[in-house]
Amino acid sequence: MTLSMPGTGARAAAPGTAAPFTPSAPLVRATPNSSGRVEFPAGFLWGAATAAYQVEGAGAEDGRLDSIWDVFCRIPGAVHHGDDGMVACDHYHRYREDVELMKSLHLDTYRFSTSWARVVPDGRTVNPRGLDFYSRLVDELLEADIMPWLTLYHWDLPQALEEQGGWPARDAAYRFADYAAVMGDALGDRVPVWTTLNEPWCSAFLGYTAGVHAPGKKSPELGLAAAHHLMLGHGLAVETLRERAPQASLGITLNFTVSDPVDPDNPADVDAARRDDGMFNRIFLDPVLRGAYPQDILVDVAHLGLAELIEPGDLEIISTPIDVLGVNYYNGGAVAATPDPESATASGVPDGTAGPDGAREHDATGPVWETRSPNPVPDGVHPRSRGLPITDMGWEVQPEGLTRLLVRIQEDYTGPRGTALFVTENGAAYPDVVEQDGTVDDQDRLAFLDAHLRALKDAIDAGADVRGYFAWSLMDNFEWALGYAKRFGLTRVDYETQERTVKSSGRWYADVARDNAVPARG
Ligand code: FCB
Repeated sequence: MTLSMPGTGARAAAPGTAAPFTPSAPLVRATPNSSGRVEFPAGFLWGAATAAYQVEGAGAEDGRLDSIWDVFCRIPGAVHHGDDGMVACDHYHRYREDVELMKSLHLDTYRFSTSWARVVPDGRTVNPRGLDFYSRLVDELLEADIMPWLTLYHWDLPQALEEQGGWPARDAAYRFADYAAVMGDALGDRVPVWTTLNEPWCSAFLGYTAGVHAPGKKSPELGLAAAHHLMLGHGLAVETLRERAPQASLGITLNFTVSDPVDPDNPADVDAARRDDGMFNRIFLDPVLRGAYPQDILVDVAHLGLAELIEPGDLEIISTPIDVLGVNYYNGGAVAATPDPESATASGVPDGTAGPDGAREHDATGPVWETRSPNPVPDGVHPRSRGLPITDMGWEVQPEGLTRLLVRIQEDYTGPRGTALFVTENGAAYPDVVEQDGTVDDQDRLAFLDAHLRALKDAIDAGADVRGYFAWSLMDNFEWALGYAKRFGLTRVDYETQERTVKSSGRWYADVARDNAVPARG
């Protein structure tokens, strides 16, 4: 399978100032794609995504050592129900069956991540048995004519490197580039698309500022330092992979919110939305695609030491040209300058971000693990419920936000550089009901996917160069701090038996992938 991608060599990253922040109201209106059959452009790629720690299991097999997630899961109260990824979906042993499953879903491509703690368990020494698993997986995918899309880092830093300071230490970026080199040498000839990091916002700010994710640190300064070094690691890894896999398409996946001021005529609310957008979206978009931190954000965090960490040349490395930008979108949110305790509680969103990942709450029984806002400067940024339908995560369902997001990224960031867009994650958790015969008729998830694919086509029609879509997720899996309580899969996993059962949404998605079209709504 070939991917047509723009060339890379000559495109210089344009250093510049931050793209201006223009608040826009949600567009809730009918479009030509709102109903009826919607065809996608020829060659559009249909995929599904997973991540190593969420599905693999085999936590202590073949030389794998602890990652920060193994250690975090052992903290009483940190993860719902005390769950962990030691067994997960047992994908490490069942990958052949899972590739068959992908084939039955007519997937063109599979986005997976490799576990650094499996490949370089102590952070320095390569473990050939760990590496070999990914070689076998890639061969199995190629054999099935499914394009492997590899993510190098989906949050599972080797614990050995955390003990040397983790991402807040500059050295982590260089160790990450070493790991990228190992992977590039092993798989560079067989993997056509590589993304360095998945959602560095989560790694930095849920991991080092909120304490919601591993390694559970709670410091604004550490979060910002982690963010900078994650991006430095991304740039160094792209440089390394470019040498080792010159034919491959390279990029990064970021997660986004769409921040709207509660009252667009209130300058304080507009400023809250600017700050939310800045700390969630632009703090990564601008360095990676424009070669500069947004000025307004540098001012907002001036007391937190970020500027002092930036060494000469860092931003050139961080903005090394990329071919693809992966966009993860679950929802956006409305923000105000003043709190509204009722609606904040109703939406389950903690103060300081309207983004989806602030809201990873878990059960209130058992030991309590305290967390704080992921926003390093949360004062005066208060999320408000808009009364939209919510998923099992408490996230508002807002498909039109995906249209606005993709068009904005195209116009302000990727379009001028010829970087292709892919939606690398989108999907929903709902409380699935298993019928007597084991089937799951998840019409809610199906409707969510249908609405977002229609919104995606609106963005393509408006000029966004979106080349593919990955549903999150191929199968139910370990949902981080929420353990196994939340199910996002197109396929149900029975964690007792490891049986996989394709849900109604999965069967519907298989038809979409086969026909390259969303069918008319029944
Ligand atoms: C994203 C993560 C993914 C999964 C989904 C629900 O933020 O990248 O691993 O947890 O959320």
